[in-house]
Amino acid sequence: MGAHRSKPTRPPARAPRANAPVRLLFVCLGNICRSPTAEGVMRALVAREGLAGAIELDSAGTGAWHVGEPPDARAAQAARERGVRLEGAARQARAQDFERFDLLLAMDAQNLRDLRRLARDESERAKVRLLREFDPAADDREPTRDLDVPDPYYGAGGGFAEVFELVSAACEGLLAELRDGLVGGPRDALPPRPAAPARAS
Ligand code: 4NP
Repeated sequence: MGAHRSKPTRPPARAPRANAPVRLLFVCLGNICRSPTAEGVMRALVAREGLAGAIELDSAGTGAWHVGEPPDARAAQAARERGVRLEGAARQARAQDFERFDLLLAMDAQNLRDLRRLARDESERAKVRLLREFDPAADDREPTRDLDVPDPYYGAGGGFAEVFELVSAACEGLLAELRDGLVGGPRDALPPRPAAPARAS
C-alpha cells in the first residue's frame, strides 16, 4: 500500500498583487451576443484610455450550445456600425474561471444565479456582479425595471442596438470604478485618464 494520500485540495484563490492586471470575464447565456459585445466594447475603451496590459478581458456563456462559434452576425453588425469589432469563439464558463478572474460580470439575473451556483465558496460568489450595476444612470433610465441586458437572440433586430447602448454605458461606469479602486480587489491604482486634448478656441 502506498502512503496515505490526503484528498486533493484546490489551490488557494489567487491573492491580488499590486500591478497585476485586473481580469474581467463578461458572461451571458450563449456567449455569442451580449457578452462578446461587452468584451468588444470594453476592449475599445481600454485601448482608448491606454490601459492595454492593465486590464485583461474575456467572455463566456453559461450554456454550451454555441461553443466554438463566432459572435452572432447581428451583434457583430450592430457593433461594427458603432466602431467596435467583435472577435473570438464562444466557450462555456467553468469553475476555474473564478481562480483566473477578479470580476465575473453577468448580463442578466439568470446568468448571475447560474454563475453563483458554479462558484465554490463565498469569496468566489462575491466576484459575480451584474454588469449594469455599474451604469450610473441605470436607475434613471428605467426606474421600475431590473438591471438585465435583455437577451436579443430571438427578438427583432432592434434588440442588438439596445444591447450595445446598455453595455457601453455600463462598461464606462465599470472602468470609472476600476480607476477609483472601488472594484477589482486591492492593487495599485490604474494609470490616470489621459488629459483631454486642448480645444481650439
Ligand atoms: P447571448 O444570446 O446569451 O447574449 O449570447 C443568446 C444566444 C443564444 C441563445 C440564447 C441567447 N440560444 O438559446 O441559443
